[in-house]
Amino acid sequence: MRAPLRALALAAVAGGAAFGYASILERNWFALRRADVPVLPAGSEPVRLLHLSDIHLTPGRHRLLSWIRSLDALAPDLVVNTGDSIAHAQSVQPLLDAFGPLLDRPGVFVYGSNDLYSPVPGNPLLYLWDTSANRNHRHVPDLPWAELGASMAAAGWLDANNGRGRVKAGGLDIEVGGVHDSHIRRACYEDIAGPTDPTADLRLGVMHSPEPAIMDQFAADGYDLLLAGHTHGGQVRMPGYGALVTNCGIEPARVSGLHRHPAEGSADRPWLHVSAGLGTSPWAPVRFACRPEATLLTLVPRIG
Ligand SMILES: [Fe+2]
Repeated sequence: MRAPLRALALAAVAGGAAFGYASILERNWFALRRADVPVLPAGSEPVRLLHLSDIHLTPGRHRLLSWIRSLDALAPDLVVNTGDSIAHAQSVQPLLDAFGPLLDRPGVFVYGSNDLYSPVPGNPLLYLWDTSANRNHRHVPDLPWAELGASMAAAGWLDANNGRGRVKAGGLDIEVGGVHDSHIRRACYEDIAGPTDPTADLRLGVMHSPEPAIMDQFAADGYDLLLAGHTHGGQVRMPGYGALVTNCGIEPARVSGLHRHPAEGSADRPWLHVSAGLGTSPWAPVRFACRPEATLLTLVPRIG
């Protein structure tokens, strides 16, 4: 075989191997991340917050379902689901079954666009120069987002889609504010705008997509901790470099994990946790150098 043909053949084999690894192995190699967040009043007992996001459930994902089912053993005091939970019309009941006893714990949820609209095939390379916000031209939701939300709300989880409320968890009185997904222009911060309650033990802001302009508003209103998903951590990362895209306005350095918002500024700006999420669109079923994850945040007293 001539050298150029040999190089092409090798590249094809390497590409096939990488795709097989990313779609079969890493996409099912679930990770539980842990982080401490110094965000509580002095003297508070630690509180365990389980952050779930971007499950994108299709009914056949039995490994994912059984991994989610195992998370109740962590005994979280509070569960927060930042959306994109389903990717199929038949996914609501399997998801609720996987949540199982987690639904008996205090919880909060918001929707992502994929809870409303079924996935459509597209060129994943478009993410390199544009976000998905400009490619959603459908107007009529076709997934059972209302059934999903009603079920979580019936279990006692707070619906924080353009809403505020109060949750008791782990002995804390938590004020919660949240917005619907900004990528489909359903976020309406004006509905929840206003100063937070200084007598609450914690002020928690929840959203699907970590858009800086919306997070600026949460910060100005005095929220202590912001939780978001949507980015999938970049989903396909370059080893040694990191995420190529965030699919929203946040910069790649804060594509996932625990940071502050704004990234630079005063010592009292809120903490921000962005989950890389547990799933993918069924039309882009790969994760590379970016394992699917859930995070157990241990909230502890502020330092100093
Ligand atoms: Fe997602």
